[in-house]
Amino acid sequence: MFSLPLRDGARLSPLELHHAEEFAAHLDRAREHIRPWVGASFVTEGVVGARGTLLRYAERQAADGARLFGIRDADGLLVGGVMFTAFDAAGGSCEVGCWLEPAAEGHGWVTDSCTLLVDWALAERGLHRAEWHCRADNGRSAAVAARLGMTLEGVHRETWPYDGVRYDSQVWAVLAPEWRAHRKR
Ligand SMILES: CC(C)(COP(=O)(O)OP(=O)(O)OC[C@H]1O[C@@H](n2cnc3c(N)ncnc32)[C@H](O)[C@@H]1OP(=O)(O)O)[C@@H](O)C(=O)NCCC(=O)NCCS
Repeated sequence: MFSLPLRDGARLSPLELHHAEEFAAHLDRAREHIRPWVGASFVTEGVVGARGTLLRYAERQAADGARLFGIRDADGLLVGGVMFTAFDAAGGSCEVGCWLEPAAEGHGWVTDSCTLLVDWALAERGLHRAEWHCRADNGRSAAVAARLGMTLEGVHRETWPYDGVRYDSQVWAVLAPEWRAHRKR
């Protein structure tokens, strides 16, 4: 499978239906770490659940919509990924998301990967706007948005239900001219 290099020997490549077993094994390592912060439908159990997520993304990708990519470390182990949770070419806007298993944090792999996704969306596909949504108390996620040169545009109050509590969420975004300036810097 084709893949793009990230730092420290890691690589980014499409995550597809035939990766279901590998994806399920990775989710076993990541599940409790990501559960508070990502959409509930992403936190599946077993190969059937993993396959359901991969199929959902494959169907949306076929319609030029959402897309899913895996991050593998230098040993080829699937340790996380990034995605277009939304991709609207006609409307000129997309939303990027991410996750990692705990051992893969702190390498810059998600920042590298999201840079590739935003480049593709804004520079190659000609979209105008890339968004980032996260729980307002998810400091590590907000730090990625800030590293990508995104602007915190606002807060959706009590929009994120988790474990009996409704959390605020943040919306960050970068516009195409801002992205070009950020990349030059
Ligand atoms: C959000 C999440 C993916 C961020 O992971 P991360 O490792 O902090 O992000 P990156 O891969 O971009 O790495 C950045 C870290 O690597 C470090 N780093 C090292 N070299 C780096 C480089 N060259 N460039 C950027 N960062 C680098 C940074 O300092 C930072 O670590 P620090 O915060 O301890 O200082 C991760 O915390 C996670 O999976 N959380 C649970 C799920 C989640 O919240 N998903 C997002 C939902 S909105």
